This record gives sequence, C-alpha cells and structure tokens, in this order.
Amino acid sequence: MGYFTYDPGFTSTASCRSDITYIGGDQGELWYRGYPIDQLAEQSSFLEVAYLLLHGELPNKRELDTFNRAITHHTMVNESLKNFFNGFHYNAHPMAMLTGVVGSLSAFYHDTVDVNDPHNRMLCAYRIFAKMPTISAAAFKHMLGEPFVYPQNRLSYCGNLLNMLFSRPSEEFEINPVAERALDQLLILHADHEQNASTSTIRLTGSTGTNPFAAVAAGCAALWGPAHGGANEAVLNMLEEIGDVKQVPRYIDKAKDKDDPFRLMGFGHRVYKHYDPRASIIRKTCHEVLDELGIYNDPQLELAMRLEEIALADDYFVERKLYPNVDFYSGIIYRALGIPTEFFTVMFAIGRAPGWLAQWMELVTDPEQRIGRPRQLYAGPSKRDYVPLHRRS
Ligand code: CMC
Repeated sequence: MGYFTYDPGFTSTASCRSDITYIGGDQGELWYRGYPIDQLAEQSSFLEVAYLLLHGELPNKRELDTFNRAITHHTMVNESLKNFFNGFHYNAHPMAMLTGVVGSLSAFYHDTVDVNDPHNRMLCAYRIFAKMPTISAAAFKHMLGEPFVYPQNRLSYCGNLLNMLFSRPSEEFEINPVAERALDQLLILHADHEQNASTSTIRLTGSTGTNPFAAVAAGCAALWGPAHGGANEAVLNMLEEIGDVKQVPRYIDKAKDKDDPFRLMGFGHRVYKHYDPRASIIRKTCHEVLDELGIYNDPQLELAMRLEEIALADDYFVERKLYPNVDFYSGIIYRALGIPTEFFTVMFAIGRAPGWLAQWMELVTDPEQRIGRPRQLYAGPSKRDYVPLHRRS
C-alpha cells in the first residue's frame, strides 16, 4: 500500500509551472502571457494571440507578417487525407473525424520526429495550427456531402475558415465581415485556459515523448466530452429541450434536484467562482452579432437570458458560486453564423489549438518535467491465491 495525497479530479494539485495563462478564479480574471482577455478580445486578432501564446510576446508588424506567411504556407493537407474522410460514414460526429485525422498527420511528417530540436517543435506547431481549419472544414463538408474547399491564402485565418465551410463551387460566396470578426473573437476567447482536461491530456500524453500530432489528437478526444468542450453543443440541445421561457423554472428545479441527472449546461466552472470573464464578453458580442446579422428577438437568446437571470437569483446557484461559463452564449453565436450544433466543439478545438501547442512546447522544454505518472490509493482485495477454474463455484 502506498501513502499518497488523494486528489481525484486534481482539485488541489499543480502539475506544472507555466508562464502561459493566469486564471484568477475568485476575481473572474484571465490573462494570456499577462495580457487581460478583454483587451485581447477587443483589440487583438486570433493570429496575433496565437503568436503571443506560441512565442511568448506580441509580434511587431514584421513578425506578424512573417508568421502569417508561415501559417498560410502550411494550410494545405496531403491530398491522400481525403481518403480518411471518405472512410467515415456521412453522419459521423465531426469530433470523431477531427480526432482521427489530426492523429493521422503523425504518419505524414517524419521529418519533425525529433522534438528536441526547437526548429522541429515550432514547425510541428505551425503545421497543426495551420491545418486545423482545413481539416475541420473538410469534416464539415463531408457531413454535408459537399466537395472540399481548398484553403485560400489571401484570406484571413477566420475568413479562410468561413470560406472553406460555406462556399460552394456552384455559387459566389462573400465573407461577412461581422461573422469574420465574431469568429475571430470567439477563437481568441478559447485560445488557452491553463490546465483544463484537454490541455492536461496533451501534457500527460506529451510527457511520454510522443509526437505532437498524437498528443493534440488526444486533446481533441478529451475536449469532446460534454463536461468540457462538448458543453457548447449541450447548451443548445438543452435550450431546444426547454423550448419555452415558461419552462425555465421547471428546468432550474431539475438542475437542483440531486436525484435528477440534469445539469444546467454552460453553468459552473472548476476554477471560476465568479462570472467567467469570457462569458461576459461573449454575452455582449452575442447581442451585437445577432443585431448586426439582422436576427432580432432570437427565442434561444431570450431563453438563455431568462435562464441566467433565474439561476443567478437562486440560492442553490449563489451558494455554489455557479455562473455562466464560456459555453453558455457561444453556441448562440455559432448558430447565428450558420454553424450546426454538432460542429460547435470543433470550433472550440480550432480556437484551443494555439494554447495546446504552447503548453506542449512548454512541457517538452521544461527540465523539471518527467513522464506523467499519477499514483493511486489501492482499494481492491488483499493478496490471495489463484483458484483453478474447476474449483471455483
Ligand atoms: N448545474 C447544476 N448543478 C451544478 C452545476 C450545473 N451546471 N455545476 C455544478 N453544480 C453543482 C454540483 O452538483 C455540486 O453540488 P453539491 O456541492 O451539492 O454536490 C456543486 O455545484 C459543485 O460542482 P462540481 O461538479 O463538484 O464541480 P466541478 O468543478 O467538479 O465541475 C463543471 C465543474 C464545469 C464540470 C460543472 O460545473 C458542470 O458539469 N457544468 C456543466 C457543464 C459545463 O458547462 N461545462 C463547461 C465548462 S467551461 C468550458 C470548458 O472549460 O470546457
């Protein structure tokens, strides 16, 4: 028997030192490399934030241009990857496709296998970051049964993503600047969140020395769950199930009932015991985007706001410090942009990719890090002798 600290769910264990992201859970603060999230969301771009996370500092104009050129250089995927998609049934969940295809990239890039080389590490990071939209959009097109759209390097990161998602060879497609900016902001808000489940998965996987393509695929798998990145999809499903503002009190009661498995999706957070700062920004953006897209009196936004209002005034949620998290309003924006519910978590993965990659690079260059190997408290039977099959009752 070993004697170890018992910490299921790692509520009080710091697994690493990190320079990347700070969360002030009691104050509702989030910084990337010291910069507050509200300033980045309002003034920066996703590409710039990705540079900040990967390189540690904001780029100057020349560095940003060079970064943009390097990323656009890597947006294409090997043509044979189309065969991977064709192997999926048309109704495969896009997170299944993303997880599988990102992992498969490790079969293409043997030139970067030595991750002790800093050039290789950054090249892997650029390749993954650049290809996430291309792979995600291919999964989207596969779902729709439409032809894949190749990346266009003259477009912005989000413009290119929107073009690959929504353009068709048969018709003209114009990128809506409101959608492009809203998407850019959502991706900034998702870019990193220190040692959450998917990032910890990437660190644990990466600690074995595996390649970053395999590690990021593991991160995608962890993100998929409804308690993590899958919550944005679960929120919209929940709003659909509630259906009417009149039903809100009944669902609040269900969320409070310990015998009922129903939880208010998009509510609560392991670290924030205050309003999630990302949720405040998204809530505001949600109103602006819907107005600018000409969507007035959206019934699901109305429902979400009523749900939030009742929950925030209810002792159960107040006592447990349960506030809306980043996923509560993000789905409403994604839906307004024409993105189907089952694709929301893929959008989250695209946004989280620079954070995952920055965390992976920090891990593999940290001299204090060893292979991740949690211990356990054994609670099984005491030592006993094997009983041959013919003597077992
Ligand atoms: N609805 C109803 N009750 C809740 C909820 C909720 N959404 N979240 C927590 N609680 C209750 C929980 O039942 C427990 O009550 P009690 O103390 O009486 O047993 C108390 O609040 C503490 O909750 P917990 O489950 O111990 O907290 P946790 O830190 O283990 O879980 C969480 C955090 C985010 C998984 C959880 O709040 C949850 O399931 N929320 C809904 C799913 C969700 O929105 N996930 C997205 C998280 S943010 C995006 C991301 O990082 O991926």
